[in-house]
Amino acid sequence: MGLVTTTEMFKKAYNGGYAIGAFNVNNMEIVQGITEAAGELNSPVILQVSKGARAYANHTYLVKLVEAAIIENPQIPIALHLDHGDSYELCKSCIDGGFTSVMIDASSKPFEENIEITRKVVEYAHAHGVVVEAELGTLAGVEDEVSVEAGKEMYTRPEEVEEFVSKTGCDSLAIAIGTSHGAYKFKPGTKPQLRFDVLEECTKRLPGFPIVLHGSSSVPQEFVEMVNQYGGNMPGAIGVPEDQLRHAAELSVCKINIDSDIRLAMTGNIRKYFAEHPDHFDPRQYLKPARQAVKDMVAHKITNVLGSAGKASEISK
Ligand code: G3H
Ligand code: 13P
Ligand code: ZN
Repeated sequence: MGLVTTTEMFKKAYNGGYAIGAFNVNNMEIVQGITEAAGELNSPVILQVSKGARAYANHTYLVKLVEAAIIENPQIPIALHLDHGDSYELCKSCIDGGFTSVMIDASSKPFEENIEITRKVVEYAHAHGVVVEAELGTLAGVEDEVSVEAGKEMYTRPEEVEEFVSKTGCDSLAIAIGTSHGAYKFKPGTKPQLRFDVLEECTKRLPGFPIVLHGSSSVPQEFVEMVNQYGGNMPGAIGVPEDQLRHAAELSVCKINIDSDIRLAMTGNIRKYFAEHPDHFDPRQYLKPARQAVKDMVAHKITNVLGSAGKASEISK
């Protein structure tokens, strides 16, 4: 089926009460783990590349890895997306370089400025057949160089979403409803709770419009325990409960972003491998269980959280 935009994926997901997983990719093992799971489960999937990933792995390497995954999994639609583009120039470079979707994240800028830069990216992207995700509201946590303290995040203001979408022409909108980036999303001892009232208010004002959730890792405790058991130190790492993500997917959320869970799955398993095989030094030996852990984790999300298993055949191209 090959590389597609997210347009049809989101339409089907919205109407079908499920969401598409958007997983961050940085290297071959991650691309393989994600796409093998999606391929075996016949699930559409979004592979997303951050500015940091592009600096680490190089644009061409990442695009070629994704092209290889498409050849290996021809039965599923795959979108290649820029995660948290922070400038028009970065978005343009990804559009020119073969991405099918870009995010322009000007959410830390004043409302009018956010509209202006988003509209400029939309004009260029649409002229090149590429779709655009934008963001309103601020998540706590760390993304590339931008760090927002917990408690300083701002929920999306539903009264702003219609004007923002109509003035920018963006194709999907990331909103802030209590998720945050990284592995420490909620204070230990408190009950994690997303603001579904904010999501529902946004949906009422944008009927049929795809909403995106960033910071949606669940921080599986099995991986946190594995990290801590084998020499790591991640006390109090807590994520978004899976049942709340499932509920969001049944509503207007069509794209759910997951990066930290991939990092935890790999790191936990690599630490375990090193502890159990102190004499091994071939990277293939420890990257193999790490890749398998990514695959198993993604398969679990697709089946039990996103609800996108078997949906590849709904997408026409
Ligand atoms: O939203 C942030 C993503 O997890 C990407 O993280 O900027 O460290 O690659 P990164
Ligand atoms: P997590 O840190 O929860 O995995 O969020 C990833 C993300 O939002 C990427 O844009
Ligand atoms: Zn994000």
